[in-house]
Amino acid sequence: MVVRVIPVDDFDLVIFGATGDLARRKILPGLYRRFLAGQMPSSARIIGAARSDLTEQQFRDETRAAIDEFAPGIDTSQLEAFLAELHYVAIDAKGTGGWEKLKEIMRPGVVRAFYFSVAPSLFGDLAQRLSDYGIADGESRIVVEKPFGRDLESARALNDVLARHFAERQIYRIDHYLGKETVQNLMAVRFANILFEPLWNAQYVDHVQITVAETVGVGGRGGYYDQSGAMRDMVQNHLMQLLCLIAMEPPYHFDPNAVRDEKLKVIRALEPVSEAEIVRGQYQAENGTQGYLDDAENPDSRTESFVALKVRISNWRWQGTPFYLRTGKKLRARTSEIVITFREPPHSIFDESSQKPNQLVIKLQPDEGMILTVMIKEPGPGGMRLMQVPLDMSFADAVGPEGVDMPDAYERLIMDVIRGNQTLFMRGDEVEAAWAWADPIIKSWEAGKARPEPYDPGSSGPEEALRLMHRDNRRWREIRA
Ligand code: BG6
Repeated sequence: MVVRVIPVDDFDLVIFGATGDLARRKILPGLYRRFLAGQMPSSARIIGAARSDLTEQQFRDETRAAIDEFAPGIDTSQLEAFLAELHYVAIDAKGTGGWEKLKEIMRPGVVRAFYFSVAPSLFGDLAQRLSDYGIADGESRIVVEKPFGRDLESARALNDVLARHFAERQIYRIDHYLGKETVQNLMAVRFANILFEPLWNAQYVDHVQITVAETVGVGGRGGYYDQSGAMRDMVQNHLMQLLCLIAMEPPYHFDPNAVRDEKLKVIRALEPVSEAEIVRGQYQAENGTQGYLDDAENPDSRTESFVALKVRISNWRWQGTPFYLRTGKKLRARTSEIVITFREPPHSIFDESSQKPNQLVIKLQPDEGMILTVMIKEPGPGGMRLMQVPLDMSFADAVGPEGVDMPDAYERLIMDVIRGNQTLFMRGDEVEAAWAWADPIIKSWEAGKARPEPYDPGSSGPEEALRLMHRDNRRWREIRA
């Protein structure tokens, strides 16, 4: 299948924190891929800005090394042309150094975007200087990363700091899950097909499961993670976004505020979660591998590397249909999927007990696709026996034998910033509502003395998480690659 590439307008993109991990891993390789795909005008410029006193040539060399490391095997035929468009300014976020120079090199008449790939404590300083020096104007865009705060209060403070200099329509808060091709597909599946909508409610859906399982531990970023934990790192943002896309009402249009209004309504309708309906876990050391406490370098840590919880949405559509969410590190396989389990038929005409409910499994990563389980007659003579079979569709097979080179989430999102399309970015009120829901859960853990349940690396998490569903006579779909 030929992928259509629609070039974006000419732009100057300033990356604050250009020598940091995110820039090296995702932003710079992603921009090169868009350059290769012909989506960036050849005159577009990327301006690295960071504390280090690098020459332009050194920044280009570092970018070449980052692309070699994080985009191995990529076509390098246009790499030198891409690097030639890179600039660098050593900048002092809290002082005056570098700002005049940055102002001089920005071009008039092109889209200006500023990526804050720095600690949130610097957001205010950067925003202040961009406006003091007249570098940003009413049309400029700023991009900020998660973590957007660590609770409602700090998220509000960040929103306030940004709002002093920028209007909401200029602020692009990234949740990279929204940039994933298959996550966007959730909206296509729901709202471009008539088939699912009539069944998409508590009358027909028994429950929903959302699993984001990872095999990696927190080694290498234990310092950050130990202050955060799975609830802040994954549930408040990525899983919440998935939940919203599954649960929201159809927006009147695929338009930034229409979509975000609907997501916000879902978050506001979430009921508080009781302690009995949430399980925290921490992976243990095993066979010479490091446990969480070693990775976090904190032998007393009570931070969770796994969480499973039962969530209820108090509205007409979902009253009586729980959503079970779980996510964790060092689990059996890397897989993200959503399972919609339908109710059983109200009356069985078959005299047998092998009836199983239909399930729609939406596989987000890896091997994106959908499976719908249906009951059929077991082939052969000897009476009417039923069996469950999967209607299995892999998106890669469906779009053609040669497949499609799926853009990384960051590539898509950065191009959306340049286009001025906020649909896949979180609005300030959405982030605050998600914290307002998550805060009491986190605060009660922090106030208590209980430790997370231990679990073995390579497992599906603590036993308690399985019991969370067994108690309701339900089962998690197995975590498998
Ligand atoms: C990040 C979290 O936001 O998402 C990480 O901070 C996590 O802890 C990552 O590993 C998962 O993203 P992906 O795209 O690999 O599913």
